[in-house]
Amino acid sequence: MAVTVFVLNGPNLNLLGQREPGIYGGKNLAEIGEDCRAAGREAGVAVDFRQSNHEGVLVDWIQEAADGADGIIINPGAYSHTSVAIHDAIRAVGKPVIEVHLSNIFAREAFRHHSYVSPVASGVICGLGPAGYLLALSALKELVAGRAKGDV
Ligand code: DQA
Repeated sequence: MAVTVFVLNGPNLNLLGQREPGIYGGKNLAEIGEDCRAAGREAGVAVDFRQSNHEGVLVDWIQEAADGADGIIINPGAYSHTSVAIHDAIRAVGKPVIEVHLSNIFAREAFRHHSYVSPVASGVICGLGPAGYLLALSALKELVAGRAKGDV
C-alpha cells in the first residue's frame, strides 16, 4: 500500500526565496515542494505539501493526518518556539513526525533554541537547508515501515 506523507510548512515560509536568503537560501517553497514530490515518486511516497501562516490551520492539518497520512514532516517556522497547540495536536495524532528547519536554530538567537515540537517529534533535522526535507522524507519512510531507528 502506498505511503502518504503530509509536509506542512508554517508562517512566512511562503516567502522563501525573497526572505533573508543569507539565512534561508534562494529556493522558493514551490521549488522545495516539487523536489519533495519528485523524491516521493522515486520512493513510492505520496507527498501532500502545504503551507499556512495560521496556527489553527496547521493544527487542523495535523489532526487530518490521523486518517489521511502515515506520517508528517513539519517545518512549523516561528510556531516551533511558541505553539503548545501544535505540540498537543502532534501528541493527539500519534503519527511519526519529523521536524525540519532550514536554518540551524541552535546557532541563532536564544529564543529559537527551544522548540515545543521537538519533544513530540520522532526526529529533528536543522541547518541543512532544503536538503533537510528530502532527508526527512527518506527517514520517515523507514519509520512508517516500522524499521527501528538503528536499522534504518
Ligand atoms: C525556521 C526557523 C524558525 O526559527 C523561523 O521562525 C522560521 C524558519 C527554519 O526553517 O529555519 O520561520 O523554521
